[in-house]
Amino acid sequence: MIQIDKSLIDTLRKSESIVFFTGAGISSESGIPTFRGKDGIWNKLKPEELANFNAFIRNPEMVWEWYNHRKKIIHEAQPNAAHLTIAETQNHFKNVTVVTQNIDNLHRRAGSNTVFELHGNIERNFCINCKKYYNEELDFSKGVPKCECGGLIRPDVVWFGEYLPEDQFLGGEKAAISSDVFFVVGTSAVVYPAAGLVYTAKQSGATIVEVNLEETPLSSIADYSYFGKAGEILHGVLEEYKLSLKY
Ligand code: OAD
Repeated sequence: MIQIDKSLIDTLRKSESIVFFTGAGISSESGIPTFRGKDGIWNKLKPEELANFNAFIRNPEMVWEWYNHRKKIIHEAQPNAAHLTIAETQNHFKNVTVVTQNIDNLHRRAGSNTVFELHGNIERNFCINCKKYYNEELDFSKGVPKCECGGLIRPDVVWFGEYLPEDQFLGGEKAAISSDVFFVVGTSAVVYPAAGLVYTAKQSGATIVEVNLEETPLSSIADYSYFGKAGEILHGVLEEYKLSLKY
């Protein structure tokens, strides 16, 4: 059991706005593989061959095969203790915002109400031509599904070289600027511009709390770093906080 610093609990007691900035590591306890690290997907597959627009145009079948495989894993997964603890935090603070790099929808399924998705959502799809959305189950029986306009339908996720959805990024940035405590959970923090939000929060005066299995490039700027499983650590922080309210 990791010891949570009393000074962090004191800071939380004075805080109104909490942000949880999350990455693939928060969903690894739900059985969804991360990108980097020991069992990361990018150790086996090259991002430039799958997660980019040119790859999709060259070989849409291969890219869809990979996304359908990930979709299956995600559909079978359940929110874990980390997602659930974050959702429970909403009962204790005025503003709780999740800013996630994940596309798996597990924060919403856990009950988080304010979620900014920086890299899209695997549950949505759209036509590369006319941008019409297709969010129902797609039919692959005749090959890669096409829009009524003839364009290929792709998953609504951000690929390498693409811009982040502006409204989601601006929402995340606004939350970072006004946060009192900014938790950075389960992200290697190497993919920009998403990772830059941690610096935005820091420059705006937030207390930065990192939760990860290991050190990351952000550990040096974090006010607190807790190394271990996100589910256990976040649960520990919330329990210590609730305990502190009794005295
Ligand atoms: P990564 O796979 O790069 O990093 C996952 C992080 O989670 C690592 O630092 C692990 O140490 C940590 N981790 C793993 N299991 C954990 C656990 N149980 N508890 C706490 N920490 C744990 O994933 P991201 O940082 O999310 O982008 O990757 C960022 C982006 O890179 C992704 O959104 C994706 C990828 O390319 C796009 O697809 C655009």
